[in-house]
Amino acid sequence: MSLLEVRNLTTTFQTGGGAVTAVEDVSFDLNQGEILGIVGESGSGKSVTALAVMGLLPRPAARISQGGIRFDGQDLLGLPDRAMQRLRGPGLAMVFQEPMTSLNPVFTIGEQVMETIHAHERLSRAACYGRAVAMLERVGIPSAGRRMADYPHQLSGGQRQRVMLAIALVCRPRLLIADEPTTALDVTIQAQILDLLLDLRDEFGMAIMMITHNMGVIAETADRVMVMYAGRVVEQAPVTRLFDQPLHPYTAGLLSCVPTLDQEQDRLIAIPGSLPEPSRRPPGCRFSARCAQAVPACADAVPALRHFVADHAAACIRVGEPA
Ligand SMILES: Nc1ncnc2c1ncn2[C@@H]1O[C@H](COP(=O)(O)OP(=O)(O)O)[C@@H](O)[C@H]1O
Ligand SMILES: [Mg+2]
Repeated sequence: MSLLEVRNLTTTFQTGGGAVTAVEDVSFDLNQGEILGIVGESGSGKSVTALAVMGLLPRPAARISQGGIRFDGQDLLGLPDRAMQRLRGPGLAMVFQEPMTSLNPVFTIGEQVMETIHAHERLSRAACYGRAVAMLERVGIPSAGRRMADYPHQLSGGQRQRVMLAIALVCRPRLLIADEPTTALDVTIQAQILDLLLDLRDEFGMAIMMITHNMGVIAETADRVMVMYAGRVVEQAPVTRLFDQPLHPYTAGLLSCVPTLDQEQDRLIAIPGSLPEPSRRPPGCRFSARCAQAVPACADAVPALRHFVADHAAACIRVGEPA
């Protein structure tokens, strides 16, 4: 049994302009200790997928209209809010892209790490304090004991992201969702944080959903990769296979412009055009409007995700065609 099983997840937002399907028919598994990279341009549905797993979709605007999420065999969508809150911390934890907005500016970092421990475990104040200092040290905050009394604004961006990691990890979650955890950081710090995440995965045996728009980050960290486009999964494969033999033209496009980790990259793309707004998705394959391989039949129906070899699937009607 996988640690996390997401099946046919479909999430809809109610907006002024009508219902918007942010994520459609997304399925994936994540095993204990495994890192699944989720990659795609901004707006492709990565964060909505993550928030659905965490039970943190904004309500009532967002609704999971189809599908299921199981964690450790437990149906998360059927869990009462209180049970879900108890699971966040020791079960599931998440770090976001922008640590300044997720840390509370009016509490010290020590208070914020200790609060998380306190919410889940009965420990004496001294034990809680010791545990917080040890975790801050583990994520690379120097002189952590002294920094406990600092407020978020007194730390650098990289240190704030380390504090966020400490908060996420202090209850030893079995699954960490890292949503663009290094996007806001400069490249040196970015590489350090990714190394730290890999070490912590080995040390804690946790699974990681590594969300990024950067194929370089995927190459450095992921065991398996899921490529998303306009709310749907277009390709899934083990990381070496995806880089060696991408099947979907979108993945091939992403790979044609992989930056190394020491290059800045804000946009993924050497592929001309941009992601369609949800209300303007073309019929059939959503990538067809930008695809050099497109043929008229691509507009007929949304292509199903087909398995070509075990563990390697792509959603493109042209894959496997005789040359
Ligand atoms: N709060 C929201 N209200 C309405 N639509 C939203 C909201 N959040 C996300 N969406 C829709 O979901 C799509 C996917 O968003 P998101 O998962 O944040 O993309 P990504 O993380 O891949 O950049 C967006 O393009 C948008 O259409
Ligand atoms: Mg996002």
